[in-house]
Amino acid sequence: MARTIIIFFSIALLFANCKKKDTDKPDTYTPTCSGAKSFSNDVFPLIESKCKKCHTNMDDHAEVKALAAAIKDNVTSGIMPKDDKLTDAQKDIIVCWVEAGAPNN
Ligand code: HEC
Repeated sequence: MARTIIIFFSIALLFANCKKKDTDKPDTYTPTCSGAKSFSNDVFPLIESKCKKCHTNMDDHAEVKALAAAIKDNVTSGIMPKDDKLTDAQKDIIVCWVEAGAPNN
């Protein structure tokens, strides 16, 4: 009897744990792109405030563009910024600009 109860609770715990992991999923972000994003007005100020304290290789358009694909991946997944979180609107600025071909606008 005791064994049955232990097994029952173990299984219940297992499911409770799975459920928790599900709801804890960090990123369900998908970009919503509306309107053109400007590198100098939108993207670069965000990079300056959220990324440059750690990254010394994002000083101008050419450097950011060279890293554009990796930046998009890391921002979409939420891996970067390492010490902080971007709002979905902030992610949109970076991701939509990269999807538009990372223009110098
Ligand atoms: C607190 C420091 C910190 C901040 C802030 C930060 N990063 Fe990073 N980033 C790192 C470190 C450290 C790595 C090296 C990989 C690792 O340890 O995760 C990295 C790696 C990367 C990489 C992959 C490596 C490369 O250079 O190709 C990209 C792309 C990146 N970061 C983009 C960003 C962007 C975009 C932001 C701002 C939205 C940002 N990071 C903010 C610390 C930071």
